[in-house]
Amino acid sequence: MLFTDVIRKKRDGGELSDNDIQFFVDGLADNSLPAEQVSALAMAIVLNSMTFDETARLTLAMAASGTVIRWQDLKLDGPVVDKHSTGGVGDKVSFMLAPIAAACGCFVPMISGRGLGHTGGTTDKAEAIPGYNTAPDFPTFRRVVRDVGCAIIGQTADLAPADRRLYAIRDVTATVESVPLITASILSKKIAAGLDALVMDVKVGTGAFMKTPERARKLAQSIIATAAMADLKTHVLITDMNEVLGRTAGNALEIAEAVRYLRDEGREARLDGVVLGLCAEMLVVTGIENDRAAAERRCNDAVTSGRAADIFGKMVAALGGPSDLIDNGSKYLPAAAVVRPVHADGYLTRMDTRGVGNAIIELGGGRHRVGEALDLSVGFSDFASIGTLLDAQTPLAIVHAASEDDAVQAEKLLLDACELAEEAPTVTPVIAEIIPGTA
Ligand code: URA
Repeated sequence: MLFTDVIRKKRDGGELSDNDIQFFVDGLADNSLPAEQVSALAMAIVLNSMTFDETARLTLAMAASGTVIRWQDLKLDGPVVDKHSTGGVGDKVSFMLAPIAAACGCFVPMISGRGLGHTGGTTDKAEAIPGYNTAPDFPTFRRVVRDVGCAIIGQTADLAPADRRLYAIRDVTATVESVPLITASILSKKIAAGLDALVMDVKVGTGAFMKTPERARKLAQSIIATAAMADLKTHVLITDMNEVLGRTAGNALEIAEAVRYLRDEGREARLDGVVLGLCAEMLVVTGIENDRAAAERRCNDAVTSGRAADIFGKMVAALGGPSDLIDNGSKYLPAAAVVRPVHADGYLTRMDTRGVGNAIIELGGGRHRVGEALDLSVGFSDFASIGTLLDAQTPLAIVHAASEDDAVQAEKLLLDACELAEEAPTVTPVIAEIIPGTA
């Protein structure tokens, strides 16, 4: 079979056969397809989409391209459940949600991704913690999940290797924004992780891959229907990504914010809403709680009691990081050389959040090319939320850069991405919709 025929078929709007899809997935997993052919097919899929059947077949083939994890032999006394986000800017939710869910009786084997397009990646953020191993062997991963209750790691070579390669190529070829490709990418990893249930955070807005509520709902329905075919109970929350989530964006800065949250020190309201909303849904989808409000109270209690912070500390130590990160974060996290406020005047009314993500890439915190090393210290902190009146005392954000020149460029990109007005805007709720799926 010639792969150019497969590309041509999709380019001309045709439907790929089982054989075409298997050929694609095998060629991804064993590296026999060159990146230019992979990206040509990815672009044809972005432009001409896939039917539901093609999407389901691609997802199942990618899930089967490597190891499929089984948890039954560990006889865990709680459900194996995870959360996954379609990607945003400042989305550090996993670092809080995984230990909170573990404190509430879940086991969370979280296999996360690297930065994708303008969005940040949980794996990159975790690597801001010195010594933290995002690629442990399977026995270690399973042991940490069993003993601690959660483990956040990156995609390993054995787990959905077809997605691992496709993901890296999509990141740098403007081929992320596709309902079938996002569905297959996310669910292949989650099916391979052997979960009992999944909660999806589908982001919508200027910093999301889905810009409109209609597109976000379409992705949510695609994920729910494809997950159902693989018997994976999935609930979806559609959440707002029209501004940075929380007060930081940038790898180490986001870890520092997650640590402050877990210490119950200044939980930014929108971030808190997303963390507790998603985590409560994990308790609902697994049947640990029937009532969302009760589930949310239970999650909140895991934070205020310090149990979630304790579990996070144990997870970090078990994966090779410092045992006292929760108490001494600033001792360990990398810091940028230039740190200074970015000022503006008026009400912050709108953010082109993708532009903020791109500013972080320009600072060195995200990638232009496959495999590029990151400067984990850079980004923005102290972000004002939409509706804040900015003045000489209240900056838009604080930029963290490796040099003065980088700081000047990032400041300009940030200001270009933000709109100001004399009137306060109306503020949208952070949780737009809850779609209970197939549970
Ligand atoms: N997260 C993933 O794992 N894959 C995508 O395509 C988008 C978000």
